[in-house]
Amino acid sequence: MSDLPAKNPSTLPARDWTSEDAWIGTRRPILEAHALPADAYTSEDFFSLERDRIFGTSWVLVGIADELDPVGQVLVRDLGGRSVLITRNAAGDLRGFANSCRHRGTQLLEADCTVDSTIRCSYHRWGYDRDGVLVATPQFADAGIDGFDPAEYGLHAVRVEQWGCLLFTTLDPEAPSVDDWFGDLGERLTGYRLDAWRSHHTQTIDIRANWKLLTENFQEYYHLRWVHPELAKVSRVEDHYRYQGPGMYCGQTTTPISSDERGDWTIMRPAEGLDASDMASGRFLALFPNAMLSILPNHAFVIRLEALAPGLTREHCTWLLPPGSEDVPDGDFAVTHDFWIDVNNEDIDVVQRGQVGLSSGSYTPGRLSPRYEEPLHRFHNMLADRMIGISRIPDGDPGDDAPLLGTGVNPLPWHR
Ligand code: FES
Ligand SMILES: [Fe+2]
Repeated sequence: MSDLPAKNPSTLPARDWTSEDAWIGTRRPILEAHALPADAYTSEDFFSLERDRIFGTSWVLVGIADELDPVGQVLVRDLGGRSVLITRNAAGDLRGFANSCRHRGTQLLEADCTVDSTIRCSYHRWGYDRDGVLVATPQFADAGIDGFDPAEYGLHAVRVEQWGCLLFTTLDPEAPSVDDWFGDLGERLTGYRLDAWRSHHTQTIDIRANWKLLTENFQEYYHLRWVHPELAKVSRVEDHYRYQGPGMYCGQTTTPISSDERGDWTIMRPAEGLDASDMASGRFLALFPNAMLSILPNHAFVIRLEALAPGLTREHCTWLLPPGSEDVPDGDFAVTHDFWIDVNNEDIDVVQRGQVGLSSGSYTPGRLSPRYEEPLHRFHNMLADRMIGISRIPDGDPGDDAPLLGTGVNPLPWHR
């Protein structure tokens, strides 16, 4: 006799994901909590709701600030199915707009590009300046028109803010500032002075897995020994600590990072002015919902997740270098680049297997390891909040729960 659940998920009762009742396993304390059900990773209904309630209301990572360096550069990004334009105006200030003409709604731009002073609609050539002001309506009122004031037909504005060297956008006019969204994280990272770090290399990878599997995998080091034997030499299991204050993020730190077995990882010059803790650590931060940052003393590896379908995610990968590293020899950078590509490929392989298993129809939610998977519990609860419609920024780790979770909080270096 089999205890497998029904093979066809359609025979299972549908859940209302906007209700607390659907999140009972997530809301339990970590010692009793369950992982998310398979539907959260495979169902079109869940994905559609998530586009509205997660990507339609959060501060979503949309790019790196230096992507807007060319004058007139415009980024085209999808936020929960809604296309937005991100640019700088003539004074250099950030601006965001809905990507839809105010005449009859045509999509203005299809992909990233540079414009001169004007964003032009291809249909009837209405034009908008980089403040979104309607500045051209060719032949529109040749025969006269009543009560038409171009000032009322500027592009609909969308909020854009810079945090470090990262650009974030939200469709929610009521959302707190991006600084408040990430709570104390900006202060924790002050010493890196990330606003001056610059993109050195970018690449894009499509992955056959749900976006949450990628960030969840990033948040736990339970798999480190078996999936990443090389990474485990420089970021040792026993040197991991929680790194979570109040804010919409989940984090861990490796302190100290090790060069005993692999010195090649630290071959590039470190950023100037780091304190002893930053100088000795790797900060691994999953910013809710779609950013993954690995910050080392001499480089950062940033992944922006673009959720394309329940089982398909595009990773936009950027390697950032601190000021003073512009002339790093290609060979030195290649070592760091290739290291991350190898680690990332190991993650992609196991995460794609996760998607296959979750899609099999046989999975019922498992339990979470308190020591290794507490950040997932924090992430799942942020997800639940947003899906239910609760605007809440989680508290930080209390600091006195090491016996409970088996790992301490953000130590000073050389703690042993
Ligand atoms: S729809 Fe854009 S100018 Fe007509
Ligand atoms: Fe991993």
